[in-house]
Amino acid sequence: MNNNQVVIFDTTLRDGEQSPGAAMTRDEKLRIARILEKLRVDVIEAGFAMASPGDFEAVKAIASTITESTVCSLSRALENDIDRAAEALKPAKRGRIHTFIATSPIHMKYKLCMEPDDVIKQAVYAVKRARNHIGDVEFSCEDAGRSEIDFLCRIIEAAIDAGATTINIPDTVGYALPHQFGDTIKTLIERIPNADKAIFSVHCHNDLGLAVANSLSAVVNGARQVECTINGLGERAGNASLEEIVMAMRTRSDDLGVTTGIDTTQIVPASRLVSSITGFPVQPNKAIVGANAFAHESGIHQDGILKHRETYEIMKAEDVGWNTNRLVLGKLSGRNAFKTRMEELSISFDTKEELNEAFQRFKVLADKKSEIYDDDLQALVSDVRSSNELIEKYKLIALNAGSSMGETPEARLTLLINGEEQETISAGGGPVDAIFKAIEKCANSGAKLALYNVSAITSGTDSQGKVSVRLEKNGRIVNGAGADTDIVIASAKAYIHALNLLEAESAKANPQTGP
Ligand code: KIV
Ligand code: ZN
Repeated sequence: MNNNQVVIFDTTLRDGEQSPGAAMTRDEKLRIARILEKLRVDVIEAGFAMASPGDFEAVKAIASTITESTVCSLSRALENDIDRAAEALKPAKRGRIHTFIATSPIHMKYKLCMEPDDVIKQAVYAVKRARNHIGDVEFSCEDAGRSEIDFLCRIIEAAIDAGATTINIPDTVGYALPHQFGDTIKTLIERIPNADKAIFSVHCHNDLGLAVANSLSAVVNGARQVECTINGLGERAGNASLEEIVMAMRTRSDDLGVTTGIDTTQIVPASRLVSSITGFPVQPNKAIVGANAFAHESGIHQDGILKHRETYEIMKAEDVGWNTNRLVLGKLSGRNAFKTRMEELSISFDTKEELNEAFQRFKVLADKKSEIYDDDLQALVSDVRSSNELIEKYKLIALNAGSSMGETPEARLTLLINGEEQETISAGGGPVDAIFKAIEKCANSGAKLALYNVSAITSGTDSQGKVSVRLEKNGRIVNGAGADTDIVIASAKAYIHALNLLEAESAKANPQTGP
């Protein structure tokens, strides 16, 4: 890798998953890891192996599958965390342990309850232990954005001496400003005597909407790894978004003078997959991947674009993978064509039954909708996988809901709850409201509806509607998803999916709330 190439470290599967309600199953993580590999990200942070047995298995499965990208696991600066990460990474062709400890006065005093000198000792111990397992070790100074520069210099020098090969400077709470963050990176690289022995990395959160600007400022000042996520997913306001970082570096290479190894044509497919799996919609005006990012509404703009595209466009839509949502299959397509296209989309089936079930759903969909696009296939497989991977306490058996002008909408539905059928009728402000009330009449879950969102998967009135339902119960948040050509049915599916997730999801540790 030359000195002007920036390492792209994707943490969608770790920091992204720390967004409330973005928890993913092992299989979903594998699908995202495969598209990240296609995107040619250099490092995939696959998870926090210590968080739960499920997270450990997910990191291990990704380490066993991915060959082109380095696979990384996060670990606190603790013996058990590091050993667990190393164990999960054993099958990796190229693995990395990422260990971290907080370095800001406020975190050391109130979260760690440790003296600064002891924090340095712990960091050195963690890096050495990780190096005994693996050659590629990243060390992060959590809350570096609010840490004292002299202390950062001391701990980083010690971490590099202990064997860290990448030093990450996170702006954990999104507090930094671009000029000041850039200065910090420059000062660190200039002042730390062994700085040339490690790659400097940044990891910026978006609380002030500055994550991308701060990351780019760091790059201008010598950082050569950027940590980011697809769609900017991540804790609170999220992380720096991969698509914005990569396209800024590509579009403004004249000024920034750096490159990445990313295959940008995979950006939109990756964005859609992450959105479909997490149930987090992409806002229409989101840079690069929003539905309006390349749409021109005003007459003046349209006229300009027709005369000469570059009057109003600085990037080509096809360079980031728009227009790749090819029309692929229809009613007459057979099982082989279906399987082949799924493989091209990096979707494989573990068992023949899973393939058959997905193919049956495809046939049902093709009867309702003549043109089946890649996004339809992704939604279809999400449906099959979520019902196969979850123990379904709740299952929708029958549903009837309609609306007539001037009449109160009513929903009649039959649910299977723990194998027992329950039928009910409920009225509501609209058909969806009536359905949710009917479901709750049977389920009595005690969950609160925190978000309801509908979007079209493809264009046209026969498009499938994709619904996200966010439920909250006792501080836990889940996002259910459902897709159907009938949005009322999609809504019921999404609500029931969320209820099943609430049942299934067990507590797992957040790496940043621990010691
Ligand atoms: O934001 C942060 O500080 C992190 C670290 C664990 C790298 O996510
Ligand atoms: Zn973070």
